Order: sequence, then structure tokens, then C-alpha cells
Amino acid sequence: MEQQRLDKIIASTGRFSRREVKELIRRGQVLVDGVPARSAQEKADPEAAEITVQGEPLVYRRFTWVMLNKPAGYLSATEDGRGATVLDLLPPELRRQGLFPVGRLDKDTEGLLLLTNEGGLAHDLVSPRRHVDKEYYVRVEGRLTEEDCRAFAAGMTLDDGLVCQPAELEILRADAAGSEAHVTLREGKFHQVKRMLAQQGKPVTYLERIRMGSLRLDPALPRGAFRFLTKIEWEDLRKN
Ligand code: URA
Repeated sequence: MEQQRLDKIIASTGRFSRREVKELIRRGQVLVDGVPARSAQEKADPEAAEITVQGEPLVYRRFTWVMLNKPAGYLSATEDGRGATVLDLLPPELRRQGLFPVGRLDKDTEGLLLLTNEGGLAHDLVSPRRHVDKEYYVRVEGRLTEEDCRAFAAGMTLDDGLVCQPAELEILRADAAGSEAHVTLREGKFHQVKRMLAQQGKPVTYLERIRMGSLRLDPALPRGAFRFLTKIEWEDLRKN
């Protein structure tokens, strides 16, 4: 791999800002192949060099993958003149890496959103041909019934002509005052969960994505927070 500046390599892990890297280097806490680095501009091959920071080996990844627990009120876009985007929830070091959301969640939808700068795999995960499951927890008005489940399983055609692939509706609680369910889709058309349930006469009052393929929303991740994917999670995603 080509040589890159040390501050860029170390900041790409998201653990330190470029300014902090400078300070670490000044204190002699960054070693490249056992030799203390002298400046943040010094270059190294991040895949070949052994870089340690404060005694810990640096785990370099060519691409960054982040799991965000999206709160309501943020747009799934990289920039938007109309309001806050999910990128605003990440620190500046990460924002500079060209991350973009993998598919979209509506502004009022919460939960699992992946961000990455690895275009190929991101594209595969949202491609309708790949049929990667997307699972949602949903609350609706009215009582969900077995008939609703059958309509989802059969593949619905919406009033506006959208033909949906068979989907799964698993009722968690059904009550005339409101119901809860898990919905699993293998595609991701615009407002799809809301449109399917509206057509059944059960408008969505709350929507949260809880899984994408092999990857579940980490229950330890607070709303609005992010974490990096582990190597195993990333490898499993590639197998989806
Ligand atoms: N379906 C929707 O209606 N909205 C989302 O944000 C995701 C799936």
C-alpha cells in the first residue's frame, strides 16, 4: 500500500484526532518499526509498518465501518442544507474520511445505520439483487392480525403500484389501542415499512431498524452513539 502521513493513519482509527497524534509523537509515544516517530508528517506504509501508540499495536483498516444507533431527527445523508445529518453525530476525524450511510432510514426512524467509505460492499448490502434482510421493530395504530401477516408473506402490491417482495410480519403484541411487531424485508424501497402497514390500515407510530443481514444493533450502544465494526462483523457482512 502507498505511504501515508502518520497523523492520517493514526487518526483514521477514530481514537485520536490529528492534534492528539501530534502531541503523542511529541511525547515519543508513537513508534514506527520500533523507532520513535519524529513528526506527524512522517510517512509509513500502514499495512507493512508496525506502528504502536502508547505501547499498543495500531490496528489499521483500509476501510472504516461504523455502526450508528441513529436517533430520530437526523437525515441519512452526507450533507443537507435543511438540517442535521447522521454525519453530525460522528467526530471530525471520522467525518473527514468520506463516510456515507449504507442505505437510508427516514428522518424519524431510529436504530441501526451503517456508515462506511467502502463503496463496493456498501452497494452490495443495499442492492435489491442481494436480498439482504433488514429487520425492524415497529409500533402501529390498531390491532395487527394474522391476515396482515399473510398479506406481507404473499407479497403486497401497494395502491401506488409498488410491487413488494414477500416479507415477514411477526406480531409481538396485538391490541385495538396499538400493536408491536417485527418486520423483515429483503429490499428497501422508499418508506416501505410505513407504506405497507398504512395499506393494511395500521399506520406506523414508531420505527426502529434492529438488524441488517448478519448484523444486529448492539444493545449496549446508546441512541446517538457509534462504534467501529469488529473484524468478525465485517467479515460476516461480506458473506451476506
Ligand atoms: N421503511 C420505512 O418506511 N422507513 C424507514 O426508515 C425504513 C424502512
